[in-house]
Amino acid sequence: MAKTTKKPGSNSGSISAAPDPSGIWGGRFDVGPADIMQEINASIDFDRRLFAQDIAGSKAHAAMLTKTGIISEDDGDAIAKGLDSILGEIEGGQFEFKKALEDIHMNVESRLTELIGDAAGRLHTARSRNDQVATDLRLWVRDALDRLDGDLETLQAALIGRAEEHAATMMPGFTHLQSAQPVTLGHHLLAYVEMLGRDRGRAADCRKRLNESPLGAAALAGTSFPIDRHMTADALGFDQPMANSLDAVSDRDFVLEYLSVASILGVHLSRFAEEIVLWCSVQFAYAHMPDAYSTGSSIMPQKRNPDAAELIRAKAGSLIGALNTLLVVMKGLPLAYGKDMQEDKVPVFAAADTLSLCLAAMTGMVEGMTFDTERMRADAGAGHATATDLADWLVKELNMPFRDAHHVTGTLVKMADAASMGLHQLSLDAMQSVAPGITEAVYDVLKVEDALNSRNSFGGTSPEKVRDAVAEAKKRFLTG
Ligand code: ARG
Repeated sequence: MAKTTKKPGSNSGSISAAPDPSGIWGGRFDVGPADIMQEINASIDFDRRLFAQDIAGSKAHAAMLTKTGIISEDDGDAIAKGLDSILGEIEGGQFEFKKALEDIHMNVESRLTELIGDAAGRLHTARSRNDQVATDLRLWVRDALDRLDGDLETLQAALIGRAEEHAATMMPGFTHLQSAQPVTLGHHLLAYVEMLGRDRGRAADCRKRLNESPLGAAALAGTSFPIDRHMTADALGFDQPMANSLDAVSDRDFVLEYLSVASILGVHLSRFAEEIVLWCSVQFAYAHMPDAYSTGSSIMPQKRNPDAAELIRAKAGSLIGALNTLLVVMKGLPLAYGKDMQEDKVPVFAAADTLSLCLAAMTGMVEGMTFDTERMRADAGAGHATATDLADWLVKELNMPFRDAHHVTGTLVKMADAASMGLHQLSLDAMQSVAPGITEAVYDVLKVEDALNSRNSFGGTSPEKVRDAVAEAKKRFLTG
């Protein structure tokens, strides 16, 4: 890289001009890289996505170099203006990214040299690409987390809206995917609102911890220049500079945390996606996906496939894969920077793209899905779903120990099954043959509505509690 031999502030003294393909490493190298070396080494094809963060970091660094007198005001101004032009060029699609210049940092610096000449060579004073890339990526992940939070809130808003609409819609609740107890659709949808709320909490934790600046750690050991790391940290919206220069350049915990957030969220989305697939099947027939989110079959004319849900279910795999990729890359890496760490970007960019696509598709499905409430209601009582209510009634009204009540109810279920009936269809005589104290009043608790209304404990499924939970969820999660 350009080295200066004269005192700071002078605009001359470069011994090398722009970093160019044949000599980006200055005097040390006689020949450029082999084609295959360039191919494996270059990251510009993916790290160009860091351009805005790279330029912001460089502007903050240049302003600090000027303020501390490490470079002249004239050079600082020229650098800032040049960087602004480059930002415009990249945003306008006029910038030519060159593989020979390896990465986004060298591409920007090289163009800066073309635009402003020797002053460009002063930008890299007291800095290394190691602290530069760590800074860029922290800024990028921070932006990604902010976008993620917005996308999650949008999906939560859609779910809360549907939950409000279906606060009293009955459906079967399952354990082991077997009919368990009736629940309300609103309650079921709000379960996902809670999961997404925790995802947002994890994202916020990650953002808080990542928000420290590596800039000024230089290659690994800090610098002999009188830099002001607090100033650059402030300018870039970081809370403070990172405390240890070795850690600053070698830490990728923040990426791992982001990918962990993404993986857990991916798991949540895949669980919901799986339920949507089930609900949309002819066998369940609880939900109908609008045409806009369905696909047909090339051979079976009757088919409506919930492909978006299936793809979301699958994409959890690539999110978990991204986390695993980086965990394995980082495992056993000695301090400080290793080129291995360049491989952090591919999974993080892929995960961010996957998440925004999945969240948008899921929001669209949630907004567009319609529910067959009659069908769900009919199914809600199937499979003796009110058996627990019968057992509870025996405890409350006949003062039976729960274990005995469980046994009596089990016997009645067996009796009903043998007669191919629902529990509510058993005669009082039949019931009394098992537990003589049972009265006519028992039939009330065998109705799905009553079973639902009775589950009025905090966090329970009764329509009343679901309406309360909807109101609370709006306050807890929605800003609009
Ligand atoms: N492209 C590199 C990366 O993403 C930048 C840092 C390179 N540092 C180095 N010492 N070669 O990690």
